[in-house]
Parts: sequence; C-alpha cells; structure tokens
Amino acid sequence: MCGIVGYVGRDNAMPILVEGLHRLEYRGYDSAGIAIHRAGGLAIYKAKGKVREMEARLPARLKGTVGIGHTRWATHGEPSDANAHPHTDTCERIAVVHNGIIENAGALRAKLVADGVKLTSETDTELLAHLIAREQGTSLVDNVRAVLRQVSGAYGIAVLETDHPHELVVERNGSPVVLGIADNAFFAASDVAALVRHTQQVVYLDDGEIARLTKDGYEVTTLDAVRSDKTPSTIELLDTEFDKENFAHFMLKEIHEQPDAVARTLRGRLDPRFSSARLGGLNIEAKDLLRFKRIKILGCGSAYIAGVLGAKMIERLARVPCDAEPAAEFRYRNPIIEQETLYFAVSQSGETFDTLAAVEEIQRKGGTVLGVVNSVGSTIARTCHGGVYLHAGPEVAVVSTKTFLCTLTVFALIGLYLGRMKDVSPSAGKRLLTALEALPEQMLEVLGREDEFAAVGRKYARYDHAYFIGRNEGYAVAMEGALKLKEVSYIHAEAYPASELKHGPLALVTPETPTIAIVPNDDLVEKNMATIEEIKARHGPVLAIAQGELPVEVEDLIVVPETHELLTPILMLLPLQLIAYHAALARECDVDQPRNLAKSVTVE
Ligand code: F6R
Repeated sequence: MCGIVGYVGRDNAMPILVEGLHRLEYRGYDSAGIAIHRAGGLAIYKAKGKVREMEARLPARLKGTVGIGHTRWATHGEPSDANAHPHTDTCERIAVVHNGIIENAGALRAKLVADGVKLTSETDTELLAHLIAREQGTSLVDNVRAVLRQVSGAYGIAVLETDHPHELVVERNGSPVVLGIADNAFFAASDVAALVRHTQQVVYLDDGEIARLTKDGYEVTTLDAVRSDKTPSTIELLDTEFDKENFAHFMLKEIHEQPDAVARTLRGRLDPRFSSARLGGLNIEAKDLLRFKRIKILGCGSAYIAGVLGAKMIERLARVPCDAEPAAEFRYRNPIIEQETLYFAVSQSGETFDTLAAVEEIQRKGGTVLGVVNSVGSTIARTCHGGVYLHAGPEVAVVSTKTFLCTLTVFALIGLYLGRMKDVSPSAGKRLLTALEALPEQMLEVLGREDEFAAVGRKYARYDHAYFIGRNEGYAVAMEGALKLKEVSYIHAEAYPASELKHGPLALVTPETPTIAIVPNDDLVEKNMATIEEIKARHGPVLAIAQGELPVEVEDLIVVPETHELLTPILMLLPLQLIAYHAALARECDVDQPRNLAKSVTVE
C-alpha cells in the first residue's frame, strides 16, 4: 500500500519518478507527488487523484537528478492535495514520502504542536519531516536514525534534505523497500515493478536497515549504525510483463493469461514416474513432512479463500486434518503453535502485513511455516522456512485472478505430493496428474466463451445485491465469486453455504436479488437442486454454474467441462471472474483500481 520511488543518478529525475509512480499506482491511487532537488531548494508537486492528475501540474522541464515520489492509499487523513506526499518541515528543507503507519503519531503530533510547530496536513508522515528537521546530527542518515528511534509502527520511508542535495536516504521497518542498482544510477522503491525498466540488480532492505544512495554508490547500515553488507540479487522480471498489451484492463489481461500462468506453475513439477509432484523449495525432507499431524493455511482476502480451497484439497488427498484461517484473526488470538502442525502462508505480493505477522508469530513460537507466494524475493518468501512459488508473473490489477488459480494449482500439487506418500494410489495420483496436464487447455477453452459470460455479466449488472451459494468446495468458490463481484462492480454480494440459506438469508431472496449457485456434478447435486427450488419458489433469479444440464430450470446456466473433482473450482471460477469484470464495465467502474482498495496491503 502506497508506492514509493526514489532516484539518484545523472539523468533528469522527473520522468523517471513519474514513470515509476505509474508502475506503482496499483499500491494506492488517491493522490500522488514528487520532490526533486534543484538549484535553490526542493521542487515539490502533488495533487489529489491519480498520478496523471499530479503529472498535469508538472512543468515541461524540471532539472534535477535526485528525487522521490509517492502514490498514496490514505491511512491518516482523507485524500487531498494537503495530505498528498511528499511532506516537508516548515522551511521545506526536508521532504519525506512514507508507506505504512506511525503508531505513536498522536503523541508525536501533540509534542510538535506543543512546541509551536504549525502542521499543514493530517498525516503521520508530516511529523517525520518536522522531527528530522529538528535533529542536529552530522548527516541526514544520523538524523533519520535519531527520529526513527522515537517512532513506532511499520513503515518504509524515503527522505531528501536540501543540505545534502546529492543524496537520498531510505529506511525500512515493516514495509518493503528495495534498491535498484544500475550503472551510475541508483533507485529505491517499495516494489520491483518500479525498477525493472532500469535494472535487474536489486538489494532488498531488511527491517531496521537504512540506505544512503548517491550517484556514486549506496551504503546500508542498521539503526544502530552497524554496516550491513548487502549483495545485489538478480530479478527475472522483464519490463514488458507489466504492460497491458492490447487488453482494455490489466484484470482482463490477467484473466486471459491464466492458462499460461497455470502451465508455468506446473512446469517441472509433475512427476509421471511416481504419479506425484516435485516440489523443490520446501526445504523439508519427505520423511519429515510425514511427521506433521495437521496443516493450517493462512492468508488474507482472496489468498485466504484460496487457502480454504487448498485445505480441502490437501485434506482429501493427504487425509491430514487441514483448515484455513484469515491471517489477522489467527495472529491476534494468541494461537497455540504445535510442532506437529505444518503452516502455510499464502500471499501473491509476499508483503501483506497481517500474513507476515502471522508467519513471524508462528516462527517465534517454534513452528514451521512454508510460503505459497508469487513475488520472488518478497518478505514473506524470504521469511518462510521454504515454500512454493506460483510463477504466475506480475499481477497488476488490484483484484487477484491469475494468482488465485495458480495458488489452487500449487495446493493440488502439495496435496498430490503428500497424498502419494500416504494413501493416494498410483492410479489415483495419475488421474489427478493427467487432469492437471489437461487443465491449461481446458481453461483456454472456457475463456474462449467470454462473450457468453460477458452477456451474463451485463444482465446481472442491473442488480444491487446478489447471493452466491455452494456446498463444501462450491462454498469456497462462492466466496471468491462474491468477493470478485463486489470488489470490481460494487454490487453487494454475499456468499453462503447453500445449506445455510433457509436458516436466515432466504428472507432477502426476492426477484431483485439473484443467486449464483455453484453446482458441481458431485454427490450433493440433489441437495443443491432442492435449494434452487426453494429460491425459485420465492421468485429469486438463479444463475447456476454447473457441469451439465440441471434437472431444475434456472434463469441462466453456465456449463464448464468435467475435470478431476478437485480442479472443478478452477474451471468454475473463470466464468465468475469474467462475469464480475463485465458487470463492472457495464456499471462503469474502474476495474483495475477499484474504489478504496489497493494491492499489497502493507498496513494492518
Ligand atoms: C482480492 C485481493 C485481496 C488479496 C489480499 C491478500 O481480489 O486481491 O483480497 O488477495 O489483499 O494479498 P496477498 O495475496 O498479496 O497477500
């Protein structure tokens, strides 16, 4: 949440910062700003709204080779010009951009106000600028260190000071900061997305590390002024992977990328010889995996829902009790961490604050946690004992689509791997393996029917409320379908286990409240038919996502192909994603950057 970018080099900073902010816009888009060192002081431009609003205020030319930029997702103070970053001290000697939350902002604010400082914004960030300006140390790094010792919270910051016009200082404490190393140019950002156009060489800062960047190099030290020797690592991402290409939106592009993304997730991981899976990065011997008596999966939002489905897959295949829990719920209930439980943390970004905090809680109590992560080198990936990367490629749309389905694919592989060490027979293993191999092609086929799903999306766009129902795996599919619809189209959508409908929610079923029923061709199909009949009796329109004709007539029916029963959710989610997308288009919503949201939630 919030994008930070910084540049020190020989080129003009302005276009580099602006381009970096566009790349980071999915992290927050309620206001943006830049600060650049120029002769005689700092040039600062900021504006409420998207980066392009700020860009419109920039002069045609602005000379200066050192600068910082920010795109904001509001925590303290509403989106406005005044609350946009960078923030400065009264004399505009210091400029700060910040991602995260200063928890003791109230106390710091009171102290500054009592000292007569006139604050111009409601942000916690401005306090940092005033505090740094008051320090009398010999260097900007020393002054930043001195202030951060007084500050609590989780944050990443970038700072400029007019007395040191050739340097940029960044610090990480809980919110990601990565340095980009190029020839005679150094970058800092909250996400590699802002760097890949310029360099593939990066240095990830760890918590409590502070970096000083000049055009001649960078130096990383800790808050205790101890030097950290950091070697750059190479990222494999290409700039072109962040392009929208010919698609109208990143969400649509990412939906259509899913067959390839799932094929990448599977690449090299299918083991036909043993009808099993190969998972190289777990860092746990196969025999040691067998000692775990329970599995728990943690994540937030869609990552949590992917965990719910993953838990069902693993439990069915490995016959190990397995469940999923929202990471924030887990970390705040003082969880009992058992040595016999294996934990998984699911995160696309690898930076979600609550998921990371849950990982740290487990590790502090001696538990073993593995990551199921998309962003290579991200904090969660680096913190976990081992894990499985999704290899889905960058996901830029705020709502997750391809990483959701790749996560399910990873859990199918984990379930297969564990299951084949236990009760899953070679022939049962082979059946799943064959279905996994066929999956990308089947996904392509389903996505080829976009026009059919678009028509349904447009038709349902007129409603303001919708129910999603299903049983077992179908209920988890309903949860994700409802989340996608509400996030992008702002239609109020609620998911319920189909069995729960008559215990309360049925009261709201009317001709104006459609129900999207997830009806796989499984043992519960008759039960689902009974529920659909109950809805129809109340004149509620029903859209069924099924695997064949149904014995009951429904308003709309979408049929997806048969596959292995554990992979059915993957095929059923494709029409649900496209229905949400097209409903959002029909309602003229900002599909890639929905209201109030941002990707990579690095605050609590
Ligand atoms: C929903 C969505 C969010 C994320 C959640 C966790 O479409 O994208 O609910 O799933 O914020 O993010 P990661 O996976 O980065 O930890």
